[in-house]
Amino acid sequence: MAVLESLSALLLLATYCISWDPDAGLVPSLTKQQGALPNATSKYHDAFFINDGNDSTHWTSGGCLPSAYIVNGYLNVLKGRCSNEVCSSSSHDAKLSDVTDGSMYTGASISPINGTAVFDLALKKPVKVKYVSIRGVFFGDTFLEIWEGNRTVFTKTLGLADKYKTETFNVSQLTLGKIRVKSANKFTLTEIDALGESGCTERAWVDLGTVKTIGVIRTRHWAGSATLESRLLTSLDGKMWNEVAKLQPGALRAVFTKLDAPAQTRFIAVEHHIAESKYAKAYVFEIDAWDSHGQWGVPPRGSPNKASLRDMFGVNGIWGWGNNKYSSLLDDKSGPRLYNDIASHARNYHNLGWDVKDPDNDPGYVNMTAGHGTNGEWWLNWDTEYKAWANANLSVDASVQFTSKGGFPPSVWGDAFHDGFRYGKEFASHFGPTIGNGLIQAMEVGNEPWDYPADFYAKILDGMSRGVKSVDKNLLVLPGAFQAHDMFHASNYIGTRVLQPFASNIDVVNGHFYSFMVRSDGVRVMTHPEDLESEFNAVTNLLRWRDVNMPGKPVWITEWGWDSETPGERCRYTECVTEDAQALYGLRGLLILARMGIQKATWFFYADSKTCDNHIFCRSGLTSSALHGFTKKKVFHSFHALMTTLGDKHFLKVLKENSHLYVYIFGDVDNGKAGLWATDVVAWRPVTADDTKPYQASFRLPTKPLSAWRISTKDGVPVPAGFTHASERVTFDATPEVVIFKLPGFPVSEHVQIIG
Ligand SMILES: *[C@@H]1O[C@H](CO)[C@@H](O)[C@H](O)[C@H]1NC(C)=O
Ligand SMILES: *[C@@H]1O[C@H](CO)[C@@H](O)[C@H](O)[C@H]1NC(C)=O
Ligand SMILES: *[C@@H]1O[C@H](CO)[C@@H](O)[C@H](O)[C@H]1NC(C)=O
Ligand SMILES: *[C@@H]1O[C@H](CO)[C@@H](O)[C@H](O)[C@H]1NC(C)=O
Ligand SMILES: *[C@@H]1O[C@H](CO)[C@@H](O)[C@H](O)[C@H]1NC(C)=O
Ligand SMILES: *[C@@H]1O[C@H](CO)[C@@H](O)[C@H](O)[C@H]1NC(C)=O
Ligand SMILES: *[C@@H]1O[C@H](CO)[C@@H](O)[C@H](O)[C@H]1NC(C)=O
Repeated sequence: MAVLESLSALLLLATYCISWDPDAGLVPSLTKQQGALPNATSKYHDAFFINDGNDSTHWTSGGCLPSAYIVNGYLNVLKGRCSNEVCSSSSHDAKLSDVTDGSMYTGASISPINGTAVFDLALKKPVKVKYVSIRGVFFGDTFLEIWEGNRTVFTKTLGLADKYKTETFNVSQLTLGKIRVKSANKFTLTEIDALGESGCTERAWVDLGTVKTIGVIRTRHWAGSATLESRLLTSLDGKMWNEVAKLQPGALRAVFTKLDAPAQTRFIAVEHHIAESKYAKAYVFEIDAWDSHGQWGVPPRGSPNKASLRDMFGVNGIWGWGNNKYSSLLDDKSGPRLYNDIASHARNYHNLGWDVKDPDNDPGYVNMTAGHGTNGEWWLNWDTEYKAWANANLSVDASVQFTSKGGFPPSVWGDAFHDGFRYGKEFASHFGPTIGNGLIQAMEVGNEPWDYPADFYAKILDGMSRGVKSVDKNLLVLPGAFQAHDMFHASNYIGTRVLQPFASNIDVVNGHFYSFMVRSDGVRVMTHPEDLESEFNAVTNLLRWRDVNMPGKPVWITEWGWDSETPGERCRYTECVTEDAQALYGLRGLLILARMGIQKATWFFYADSKTCDNHIFCRSGLTSSALHGFTKKKVFHSFHALMTTLGDKHFLKVLKENSHLYVYIFGDVDNGKAGLWATDVVAWRPVTADDTKPYQASFRLPTKPLSAWRISTKDGVPVPAGFTHASERVTFDATPEVVIFKLPGFPVSEHVQIIG
């Protein structure tokens, strides 16, 4: 295929001409764009914290009661009133505007006329107030009167003892018309203030600069126990605010709020209603916003996937697969020969510490093969282990695992580049397919090496990948798992770790994506893969990053999955879903990854944990734990059913993808002259597993399917599904279960243009 080869040479040339963009995966938050300005109802100078991209820094409100509200024109409804001729007094020369200027250092001296000193603040339009404050110097009994209409509803007597004290009175809720202060003696008033009916309400906001369309807002807004209520507000002018959601003030994690419909807005605010207790404050940490695609952006259109579902699907395992002995000693009731029923590859957490005591050291693989262990472990022989994996027809991806906290802090690396190079070279020489024993097809430079400074990790990656390639071009090199959607709030951003100078030594882009979402109460759960709020969507950002920086190179999702309990193995954490949901979401997740063009998708984990049930990933197994004999969970049976019916097929085309129905065409990618050959249609309702209300769905398909099969979670065996075909449409009962329609087969180009 000479034509193809020169085409790919051209493509390669084009690759080197394109410019590198480390942030190509990001969909920038609208609040982080130029011209956007944060501000707040108090402590303006700290408002930048809500937009600095750091979830750990926050704006703190200026406080409210007993007297901090006074300086704040949003809270103090009398602020500035005396500048507007609503005040009068017995002294003609008193500077009355000082009484409501919010400053305790300025005041008006009121002298008696005809034996009475009097000050009046009479509002043209009464206002509701909750607290009234007064501060001044009094030389004898001085009477504070608060009037509602023409009635005095509140009085207090002030005297010498109140000198320079801010006295704040709870006046319940009254409608203030007039405040009068009078005395037989002269007095000085430095302040008269009132807290309005909305009480201690504080807001922090971002002014986007211009009106934008927004669909999703992210807030980290935890506000402490003093906050009674929190709201998410938007505004076109910064004056009239609309409530778009109630927020839970106690939500610890950042929360995403999806608007019911995209909205035109310029200002986005978090408002806290703070308890009316002394010195109570509230916080806002961060505000971000996007259009209705959220931080993921628009997904790719979906082009034919070169990998079949069977090629794609793999499983994360580990030395001995939970048996505490070499896999070569296992039968098919556990280990590689249990999981190869559904998986075509397996990924191992290959601990760097098992190979070397120090990154400078030679792992000593020659000695290892001779039965004398590695530099790290005297008993270890990886060859024995990996041979058992290979004998089970699993291709092996070794994730060389090291972290700063896990024994390899920057201080133990003599020289990150050279140590990395040395190890990579030894590893490829021993395990690589070209001059090594060929037991390993791919090597990852770190699993989740997220606790290193980005530039330090980049040096290791540079060194290790060059070391591998210096001896074996055919051993695939992957970076650790990184994401491309969030440069601010996470320590695993690809843009600062996988860098242009050494990208040519990297064969595959690697990510871990779980279907996490944070509920409005700040609690993290796992949701269905189609949920717009699911982090599973972050695959889209990684693809976008790849398209710009490493076009043509495959993307592997080396960890994904759902946790579920199974009889005898409880799940005591919020992220767990039911066993049915795990099975349904697992299948749908794989189909979606196929549609995204992912080359390999490696399920985490092979089995449940036998030592924990109380935190994420304890129950992510395809099978139960060793304690329950590695019993296949529903998800295992479902993948088995999918592989038997559709395993050798490839994603070809999206027929429908809306909130009611997902429909994809599967088939063969190279059917001689016909090219793309449709053989199957898969369809399901993209909803939660418990949403089983009947939904009659239809999609356009000119050819009548031969049969239809539902992959039921009951026993994982495909069962016949009913459907009708009339006027070139298929109609069937769509459920959260995947239905596979078998087709007579036709070229995709001929029949399938119409979406609908
Ligand atoms: C923030 O608000 C204060 C008070 O309204 C105002 O004085 C200040 O100029 C504002 N800052 C910005 C950056 O808009
Ligand atoms: C975020 O803020 C915290 C607290 O001030 C600080 O320790 C941390 O270094 C900041 N993170 C970044 C990425 O600047
Ligand atoms: C004070 O008393 C004088 C004389 O009785 C009177 O003319 C004047 O109007 C009074 N002034 C005020 C402010 O009541
Ligand atoms: C006080 O106000 C009430 C209600 O506005 C009115 O009915 C009444 O006549 C007023 N009384 C005086 C003495 O002005
Ligand atoms: C203020 O007074 C109202 C009405 O009597 C009462 O409900 C409220 O608790 C008081 N506020 C405080 C802080 O004591
Ligand atoms: C291999 O074993 C020999 C003999 O025990 C030892 O001298 C040598 O240092 C070992 N090599 C490595 C790289 O550990
Ligand atoms: C591996 O694949 C070969 C060829 O398809 C097959 O004969 C053999 O049974 C497979 N081995 C296992 C353990 O599945």
